[in-house]
Amino acid sequence: MQNKFSRDIRADETAYYLSCPEVVARHIAKQLSIFRTCVELCCGVGMLSVQLAKVMNKVYAVDKDEKNIENARHNAKLYGVTDKIKFIAGDALDEKLLRNLEAEVAVLDPDWSGISEDKTNHVYGLDETEPSLRKLINLAKGHITEKIVARIPKTFVFETLKEFGPCRIENIFWGSRMRFKVAYFFPEIKENQEEDVYF
Ligand SMILES: C[S@@+](CC[C@H](N)C(=O)[O-])C[C@H]1O[C@@H](n2cnc3c(N)ncnc32)[C@H](O)[C@@H]1O
Repeated sequence: MQNKFSRDIRADETAYYLSCPEVVARHIAKQLSIFRTCVELCCGVGMLSVQLAKVMNKVYAVDKDEKNIENARHNAKLYGVTDKIKFIAGDALDEKLLRNLEAEVAVLDPDWSGISEDKTNHVYGLDETEPSLRKLINLAKGHITEKIVARIPKTFVFETLKEFGPCRIENIFWGSRMRFKVAYFFPEIKENQEEDVYF
């Protein structure tokens, strides 16, 4: 299997496991390269944010774990995008914080194992991710932008997401099996679409 990252990133074991593989992060960033500004809620050690920063002018990256944010700052240096990312140690559900973030698109990446210690366990409900994907989407829509992208577990299907209207889902295959999905909620998407993407 290909290496997860091209640089020797800094992350604890859990954050490394939960991070988005570089090749997939690059793909997501390419899909969003029409935008100039982005917010990533639940940025972890920053592996999605650094790729978003490569194609945009400014990324606001929020995670509640201060150690992750510290490591994310280090990782942004490794990828040469320090100047383009503002890292914020804070709660992604904090409305006061969200109200002050201006961005054209919001990328949401909550923990799919919820409160479980076992990070390989993927939840089935919108409110079971940590934090709740339902809350994240509603808050991001209310305070930041209508254009939302979420990295979601493979246990989520169109039915799970139907209250947010139609979306495009990418089934992400990496290292010979399906790992997770990416859901794009853009106003111009009028019916559900699904595609397998292989890396
Ligand atoms: C799937 S990981 C993010 C991975 C990251 N996007 C990457 O590619 O490196 C989920 C993150 O959500 C963070 N998190 C959980 N609850 C949060 C909250 N209420 N506010 C902000 N971040 C939170 C965790 O600290 C964890 O880093």
